[in-house]
Amino acid sequence: MAPADDAVIRVRGLVKRFGDVHAVDGIDVAVSEGGFFGFLGPNGAGKTTAISMLTGLARPDAGSIEIGSIDCSRNPKAAQHLIGVVPDESNLYPELTGFENLCFSGALYGLRKKVRQRKAEELLDLFGLEGAAERKFSGYSKGMKRRLVIAASIMHEPPLLFLDEPTSGIDVESSRMIRSLLAALNRNGTTIFLTTHFIDEAERLCDRIAFIVNGKIVRDDRLERLLQPVQGRYALTVTVSGGCVVPYTDLQQAFPGLVFHETAENELRIESSKPLKAGLLVRFLEDRCVEVVEARKRQLSLEDVFVEVTGIGSSSMTGGVKEGRGRR
Ligand SMILES: Nc1ncnc2c1ncn2[C@@H]1O[C@H](COP(=O)(O)OP(=O)(O)O)[C@@H](O)[C@H]1O
Ligand SMILES: [Mg+2]
Repeated sequence: MAPADDAVIRVRGLVKRFGDVHAVDGIDVAVSEGGFFGFLGPNGAGKTTAISMLTGLARPDAGSIEIGSIDCSRNPKAAQHLIGVVPDESNLYPELTGFENLCFSGALYGLRKKVRQRKAEELLDLFGLEGAAERKFSGYSKGMKRRLVIAASIMHEPPLLFLDEPTSGIDVESSRMIRSLLAALNRNGTTIFLTTHFIDEAERLCDRIAFIVNGKIVRDDRLERLLQPVQGRYALTVTVSGGCVVPYTDLQQAFPGLVFHETAENELRIESSKPLKAGLLVRFLEDRCVEVVEARKRQLSLEDVFVEVTGIGSSSMTGGVKEGRGRR
């Protein structure tokens, strides 16, 4: 995929090794101004290592990073005023209150006292933390901590925001709030670079996604282009007890428009380009003494594309958006 011409983040040939481990193995990335870019990959893929280099927290072994028109390869901290950073672990002070932490972050970015106090109050409200403003950060729940870390990262209203797995390991309610706030920030013009191992989160939020596996980008494209091959296709997963004793040739003959796969011993996966009628198939199997335990119908999604491209089963990428489907 050719790099975007209006890129505000441009990375070429980025490499980071830890001994024999090629944590990031020559990646190229271009993120458009106003874009919502997602780095999607399993644990250990190199997401944190990559984002650490982009945000000036780690030095690359090779490659170049440009943020805005600033070449960060020579001076990794040169673009700090343009970016907000949400690391995978909290970077705030446990002994300070929520309000004090935000004011402190504002001070680091040179905001005047009045401005940072007003901004801190505004963000505590926005992130649903107004009731916890005077409580110490150490007493916050994981979800509240993550919300405050994100609030702190945007105290100086940066045009670019980097987030490393912002909804990992926190409660559903906080995750939902964070996703919706990120979508709103992006709609208001903030360029976002997010890493995640939740496929549905990437599909819901990002307009461009790179799949990263073993330090390499294996696919990088706009969401609508990634979804093209699965658009309008449906899958039915049928779980049976004691295995499916009906030969595939019989199934294929009875349902000529469908494609059958056996995904596990007791599981059949059926694909179709038309909405599937599960009842017909279930009856066909039951008439042949196959006990159907469950039949689940769904439209194909980014998950299917990810599995197809990377060969990584979606079970190692579990979690994420639990609400109904639909963007944002
Ligand atoms: N400081 C480090 N020392 C040694 N190996 C590391 C270090 N940080 C990361 N790695 C290794 O680099 C690879 C990528 O890790 P990481 O960037 O944390 O992946 P992700 O964030 O996608 O889970 C992994 O194999 C990990 O074990
Ligand atoms: Mg990580």
